[in-house]
Amino acid sequence: MKNLNYISFISSLAMIFLQADSGWTMEMHHQHGKKAFLDIQGHWAQMPITELVNSGVINGFEDGTFRPMGDVTREQFVTMLVQAKGYDLVRGKASFSDVAETRWSNPYIETAMKVGVMAKGEYGSSFSPNQPISRQEMAIMAARSLALPLNEKALSFKDRAKVKRHEGLIGAAVQAGIVTGFPDGTFRPAERVTRAQAAVAIARASNYNPNVKEVTLVAKEAPWQVSSDRTQIVWAFNGTVPGTEIRIKEGNTLRAKVVNGLPEPVTIHWHGIPLPNPMDGVPGMTQNAVQPGQSFIYEFKADKPGTYMYHSHQKGVEQVNKGLFGALIVEEKDPKVHYDRDYALMLDAFGMNGKTGEMIPKLPVQNGDRVKLRLLNIGRTEYDVYLHGVEYKVTHTDGQPIHQPRSIQNTLLTIAPGERYDLEFIADSSQETYLAKVIQGNVLTASRVDFQFPGQSEDRQSHPIAANTLFDLTEYGQAIEEFSHEWVAFDVEYEMVLDKNERDEYTINGKVMHDLEPILVNKGQKVKVTMRNIDKEDHPMHLHGHFFQVLSRNGKLISGSPLWKDTLNVRPGETYEVAFITDNPGNWMFHCHKFQHAAAGMGTSISYRDYLLHFTPDPNAGNQME
Ligand code: C2O
Ligand code: CU
Repeated sequence: MKNLNYISFISSLAMIFLQADSGWTMEMHHQHGKKAFLDIQGHWAQMPITELVNSGVINGFEDGTFRPMGDVTREQFVTMLVQAKGYDLVRGKASFSDVAETRWSNPYIETAMKVGVMAKGEYGSSFSPNQPISRQEMAIMAARSLALPLNEKALSFKDRAKVKRHEGLIGAAVQAGIVTGFPDGTFRPAERVTRAQAAVAIARASNYNPNVKEVTLVAKEAPWQVSSDRTQIVWAFNGTVPGTEIRIKEGNTLRAKVVNGLPEPVTIHWHGIPLPNPMDGVPGMTQNAVQPGQSFIYEFKADKPGTYMYHSHQKGVEQVNKGLFGALIVEEKDPKVHYDRDYALMLDAFGMNGKTGEMIPKLPVQNGDRVKLRLLNIGRTEYDVYLHGVEYKVTHTDGQPIHQPRSIQNTLLTIAPGERYDLEFIADSSQETYLAKVIQGNVLTASRVDFQFPGQSEDRQSHPIAANTLFDLTEYGQAIEEFSHEWVAFDVEYEMVLDKNERDEYTINGKVMHDLEPILVNKGQKVKVTMRNIDKEDHPMHLHGHFFQVLSRNGKLISGSPLWKDTLNVRPGETYEVAFITDNPGNWMFHCHKFQHAAAGMGTSISYRDYLLHFTPDPNAGNQME
């Protein structure tokens, strides 16, 4: 919902519940550690309720319960809704004889009257503020508060006849998913609303966005033609490698339903994009893995434009390699640059976009086109890529803009697993133009994509490659004067020494993931992490849920554009300092994006001290996050 101050809504929810129940205590807010209300563990509303709790205000009874079945009165519900919407409060009126000007809920009820959440005359001269609110009343108020279009047709319940008025409004709330029916096909309009139902409906109304992009991703086994002479069985989303390319406009909400048609559990991690912790897709850390035959809905607002990806986070080494990945593109709402072409190319263990050699489709362009090429590495190793035939700019890394990039050519760009780079160039039909992976100075024809101009001949020439420079991100683009001054004092400093031991375990500070203590933070802190690679392999370190700013490499401040990234390749012998603000409560992985390294130990997590776990880990779910 636009203009919604979520925190103020949460406060109001807590306040209402505080008023409703004297057993509600603020003390629990100050206790640290993970806990869950005893009586909502495994409850269908556990996730939304705890999300609300985590947004800054506590609630719960001293005895550790939430009492999800308790009643919600009319005045409580109206107050929540009015505060959620952030209307200016009306004072000094008393439309109902039983809601005196001095009553605590009076300004909320008067405001609801004024803005039309309640219609004049609807309740007569008395409101009965203490009466439990019914499901139909809740639906009517929610629909009006969101100005939803009337929708009688959505009311297709067995007991539809029990709805005597405002069918269009109630139907609208059903259509928008704010209030739903029961599994037995009834709506039960007159039934009272429980605390759990009210919390869920308000949370849904708060997150409601008419601009929702819905996708269904079915994870299943499928035959996939990789090259002209090889078809193999892959695990894929919707039967293709990569899975369905998801494009969404900045500000819109993605609602992605994953359906597990595989013989083992699966999850989806939305790589790079900041989202609420429950949607992060890490089995055992943010959710229980989705079991065979089951489904799970991921829903989040895509606030940051950029190039991201999605992939399974369950047994990444196996599942990602088998093909469970795809591209997620968040397009700018008001693009500053117009592109004639916008292509996403996933560099993977197959080659490019799940294909190899001649099977890699050519990308159509016309002379003079401004082309955006998004490169995403979802493979097991870093790739050097070479763009032949044109000058280009590297405009973004990990989806985030690079300040004033200059044109380059004959340059090898290294892209490590988990990293993304956006390139921009003007197509020139007088030049053969292609992008290829390069190994030891040679173009890998198996991993080469050609840009196809109209009328151009089909055969591909092989040229010796002219690349003589290695791209250096730390010196690329223009510096912005102020940037280093933002980071003066840090609340948390952590050093990670990246290595491998004689047991072939990949370690951080000599330990593997399960022996490492999480990095504990509070909300609103400045954190500096120093990463030092004393091993012989590259380690692309990826942080979930946040972007970090790269401050220095080998003790030298970044001299080019400010760099905001979520994945940073630390090469042998290198030391990087990065910094970020803790603005996204939860438990977040920080790991090497070579899944084989993460599975062999190279990972840890950032853990917010006050974060209340929003789900109950199930030891039988087979959760395996690496
Ligand atoms: Cu793309 Cu934790 O991963
Ligand atoms: Cu690694």
